[in-house]
Amino acid sequence: MSAEPVHTLADLENWSFAGTALTVIGRPVAHSLSPVIHNAALAVMAETAPEFSMWRYFKFDIAPEELPRALKLFHQKNFRGLNLTVPHKALAIEHLASSDAFVKAAGAANTLTHTATGWSGANTDNYGLSAALRQDLGLELKGADVILLGAGGAARAAAIECLRQHCNSLWIGNRTQPTLSALVENLKSLAGDIPVHGFDLTSPPTDLPANALVLNATSVGLKPDDRAPIDLQKIARPVAVYDMIYRPPQTALLRQAAALGLPTANGLSMLVHQGARSLEIWSGANVPVDVMQAAALNAAKP
Ligand code: ATR
Repeated sequence: MSAEPVHTLADLENWSFAGTALTVIGRPVAHSLSPVIHNAALAVMAETAPEFSMWRYFKFDIAPEELPRALKLFHQKNFRGLNLTVPHKALAIEHLASSDAFVKAAGAANTLTHTATGWSGANTDNYGLSAALRQDLGLELKGADVILLGAGGAARAAAIECLRQHCNSLWIGNRTQPTLSALVENLKSLAGDIPVHGFDLTSPPTDLPANALVLNATSVGLKPDDRAPIDLQKIARPVAVYDMIYRPPQTALLRQAAALGLPTANGLSMLVHQGARSLEIWSGANVPVDVMQAAALNAAKP
């Protein structure tokens, strides 16, 4: 657990900091590893570029109804950048001065950058996913058959990244069917000729593709006694299993995958790479991803 203090909207009203401030905002946010990861990188960056010794990454607990006021104040108080986590990624959209194409497609932003006219929104979760799959599993989304579990915000961003990278096919499983149908329908305009199928996670079909990459974007596994969201034996020899959950580090899904001898990785690398990309955007500098990875691993230890 990070010892970084958790600040509030009341702290922000009276905020004063002489250096360059960055922060993650969310609710809950106490568990966030982002300050530890970013401050570790900034300390190393400051060794060769002293201006970064004046940069610091904070943590703010902000309720959804506080978001409009908070975004105004963060801007007035000259914060350089904000990372958004649950539940703000979609809520912030209407308060942005500009946003990139991915934010528009995903309806979610996780990285806001200070500009003269307001906040500019980007989404680095997509980059984080591709970079994590490459680093941990040596896999590219391009050409892959992907079985994506979940149809919430995280799954939606992952699905768009799969399509953007030209996966071969996308199979999305979810428990609640109306949510799934809405996502599948919505993705069709982005899919071009890539087939996008929906299936019921509670009774997976027998024709799921063989040699697929399985991505878990449900929240099933966050609680230590959660069962796996799907029985991997229902899928013919997946090429690998990636779980976006990193705490606990091994979910029931990853345990089953390991028992079946499949390559596995958890979401810590995705957290690190999305963070590294955010810091690159804010600093315009090269960011030490290895330092961020080591800090994340250390901080995530149970
Ligand atoms: P996030 O922003 O992390 O994606 P979310 O939008 O709340 O969070 O989405 C959570 C996902 O986990 C959804 O796909 C949800 O499925 P439903 O649409 O059926 O709710 C899935 N999920 C959560 N609890 C689940 C459970 N017990 N069994 C199966 N899926 C579950």
